[in-house]
Amino acid sequence: MSDKKRVLITGGAGFLGSHLCDRFLAEGYHVIAMDNLITGDLSNIEHLFKREDFEFHHHDVSKFVFVPGKLDYILHFASPASPIDYLKIPIQTLKVGSLGTHNLLGLARVKGARMLIASTSEVYGDPEVHPQVETYFGNVNPVGPRGCYDEAKRFQEAITMAYHTHHGLETRIIRIFNTYGPACASTMAACCRPSSRKPCAVRT
Ligand SMILES: NC(=O)c1ccc[n+]([C@@H]2O[C@H](COP(=O)([O-])OP(=O)(O)OC[C@H]3O[C@@H](n4cnc5c(N)ncnc54)[C@H](O)[C@@H]3O)[C@@H](O)[C@H]2O)c1
Repeated sequence: MSDKKRVLITGGAGFLGSHLCDRFLAEGYHVIAMDNLITGDLSNIEHLFKREDFEFHHHDVSKFVFVPGKLDYILHFASPASPIDYLKIPIQTLKVGSLGTHNLLGLARVKGARMLIASTSEVYGDPEVHPQVETYFGNVNPVGPRGCYDEAKRFQEAITMAYHTHHGLETRIIRIFNTYGPACASTMAACCRPSSRKPCAVRT
């Protein structure tokens, strides 16, 4: 095994995850992408398959996760991000934010890895404060139409914080606001197209 730093990127065949694979490889890391392809697409990463410093694991992170060898970082980006997707698969969405995050926090602990989770502006729900500041707790409806995504992400942040405070795990939380670009899934609406100037309504 080489002495390169090793990073696990969940959701590695998705929009953001595939760009992260490219970036970490360019920075000299050994990249392990893990994805069950529920909303992602292998075409986003097929250009990487011949590289020795890249591995793809077809796996659902809501089930037990194991990766042989050392791990320095885990970037947990697996989750549907578009309401077009997560409203069709609400239970998988809740599971990947909760069970998936728990599985990966356990792996990070065993490996001594630092873990970053991809959270979302949706943790603020239907906010009454604009623009949202990190100290704002939000206006969320657990039984509302986007509850499966919003509550999964809120739980994801809470359990990540608990592993940090209780187990001393090195963790990072990033709340992403409406990002789109090349490799964004075909489900994207007109507002997501690079030529559009409208605010994004679909990737949250
Ligand atoms: N794009 C945005 O604007 C945005 C905004 C806020 C948060 N986020 C977060 O960023 C992350 C990535 O979003 P994206 O836009 O790239 O979405 P995406 O749908 O393109 O990518 C998500 C990837 O996760 C995979 N996945 C889903 N469930 C899985 C599971 N159980 N096991 C393994 N893989 C699984 C999918 O197959 C897909 O490849 C998500 O966590 C999302 O909540 C994105």
